[in-house]
Amino acid sequence: MIAENTVSKILDISNIVDVISEFVSLRKRGINYLGLCPFHNEKTPSFSVSPSKQMFKCFGCGEAGNVISFLKKHQGFDFIESIKYLGKKYNIEIIEKKLNTEEIKKLKEKESLFIILSFASKYFKKQLNENLDGKTKVLNYLKKRGFNNEIIEKFCIGFSPNVKNAFTKKALKKSYNLEMLIKAGLTIKNYEFDRFYGRLIFPIHNVSGKIIAFGARNLNKNNKIAKYINSPETEIYQKSRELYGMYFAKNTVVKKNKCYLVEGYTDVLSLFQNGIKNVVSSSGTSLTTEQIRIIKRFTKNVCILYDGDEAGIGASLRGIDLILKEGLNVKIVLFPDGEDPDSYSKKIGKNKFIEFLKEKEEDFIHFKTKMFLNKIEKNDPIEKANLITNIVNSIAIIPDGILRSVYVQECSKILEIREEVLFQKVAEIQGEDNFFKKKPKKEKKNFFKKKPKILKENFFFENQEKEIIRLILNYGNSKITILEEEENIDLSVTEYILSEILEDNLELETPIYKLIFEKIISLVSKDKIIKEEYFIEHKNPEVCKVSAKLLEKKYFLSDFWKKRNTMVQTEEMILKKKINDVLINYKLKKIEKNLIKLDKKILDTEKNNDTEFDILELIQKKINLSKLKFFFTKEMERVILP
Ligand code: CTP
Ligand code: MN
Repeated sequence: MIAENTVSKILDISNIVDVISEFVSLRKRGINYLGLCPFHNEKTPSFSVSPSKQMFKCFGCGEAGNVISFLKKHQGFDFIESIKYLGKKYNIEIIEKKLNTEEIKKLKEKESLFIILSFASKYFKKQLNENLDGKTKVLNYLKKRGFNNEIIEKFCIGFSPNVKNAFTKKALKKSYNLEMLIKAGLTIKNYEFDRFYGRLIFPIHNVSGKIIAFGARNLNKNNKIAKYINSPETEIYQKSRELYGMYFAKNTVVKKNKCYLVEGYTDVLSLFQNGIKNVVSSSGTSLTTEQIRIIKRFTKNVCILYDGDEAGIGASLRGIDLILKEGLNVKIVLFPDGEDPDSYSKKIGKNKFIEFLKEKEEDFIHFKTKMFLNKIEKNDPIEKANLITNIVNSIAIIPDGILRSVYVQECSKILEIREEVLFQKVAEIQGEDNFFKKKPKKEKKNFFKKKPKILKENFFFENQEKEIIRLILNYGNSKITILEEEENIDLSVTEYILSEILEDNLELETPIYKLIFEKIISLVSKDKIIKEEYFIEHKNPEVCKVSAKLLEKKYFLSDFWKKRNTMVQTEEMILKKKINDVLINYKLKKIEKNLIKLDKKILDTEKNNDTEFDILELIQKKINLSKLKFFFTKEMERVILP
């Protein structure tokens, strides 16, 4: 395992401009560097790299991140591969943490497993072409199903001969150890026969291309035996953490900025052969969060292509919420009943199929609406309410505030429900319905006695969030000038605050301010200006009350100005400074809170003996956050001490 301080040393010394320059030609423009975005096609450069923030951002496609996310996206590296790459580039020796004997044994075992599986795969592949059954029956079967040589070769499809112990015998003869053959899941314990005999073999590769398991299809029409058997879980294979096909798909997934998700091995092969190479399969297991996180390393856009039967629809519905929860966008294509992507693409042919995918792709709101409308009588109010609750449940899961409000608008249009109602529902589902019912004051007092620390923290956010909303409600339409990329830009106060908060993915935490904030986002995204009356006369009494209070226009005297100037300054005159103070303060507090959360997570992860990958990834996040904290603390000093 790479030692922690090696990771921090490498991250400290890495310069994002150096690293990206190896792949993208960058030119200095102002304080930043500019080039053609490697993540989408463009003719004029909109890909900007900031040496001060050590971040990149494309103003065209929105791709953004730090040096590690660049390497992950561009090179398909995982975190450890990225660190090793940077270590090599900057000549920093990768110091591995000393392993104990137990760990060394595990590591050696893993290496042996890789070697054995690679041997097995070569054996199966050879049998497909040389064994009599293989080159006649099995190849014929594949041809009949429409798979060409190129695809069979690419995915290393093989055949395990119909002799109970042909493989095990061969492997033992080659001096592979029986215990390891059993551990690899290739040989069945006690009887010493092959797990997969008489089956078509689909090797499963991990993201970096190593074979880690097999799926094996029965070739007879015998319904009594399982259609597929798969490798058991081993040191190197955890079903829930792998996606079939990702190794072959990842480059295209990045290029197309989209990943198709199918159910089976044959679906992957079919789509790939039809030129749709950004496709992976969860292979029969229900989709897991870990699998979605693999996709997230390469794209934020997932399109589900499951079978058109009831099971497929059920799986799609479950998949939708899991995907949304990870902050990804999800689309769904529904296939006719009884068809899967493999069968359907063969039925209608390549071109029509590609057309079909484009035309039939829909968002989850449309998809769910259609599912419900199929089942229910139109205009049945109870069923409609159920549908709305169901959709709103999914919207409430989405972590990004702006996306949530886009979907609220969409849902409002489709189902003809007022946005306010939906926003309120979303806030309720997010576990904050109590807020509207209880008397906050009393609640806080009791709370204070029990858990003073938490209260302090929430209270702090509450005040700051109140201030943010107050500034928008009072001065939202005033213009301020800010310097960005060496250009002066005029923005409204609302636009400025919104962009500062949303760009850093911050979420307001106090339910009522969060509700108002999302309402503001929705107004701005429709190009509407912020009108006082809109909030004061709002349907939700809590919104009216709070906004009325915040709109009591009080002139404000900064202590600092009062002491030094005889002239009385109104808040409007020092608006920009005021806004920046509030925002920097708020961001700093958020960072501190995240750091505490992260520490806890690191502890938990260590306790649970999770993989090296997870822990190092968390540590990297921590380093980044600490850097940010340092930056904002400096910024605060600058702002507060004139
Ligand atoms: N699966 C499995 N075990 C089974 C059945 C299915 O592991 N007994 C997994 C396989 O990964 C399979 C996927 O679930 O690819 C989808 O199952 P299914 O649709 O039945 O198989 P297909 O991949 O469509 O195979 P084919 O086209 O040959 O019917
Ligand atoms: Mn299928």
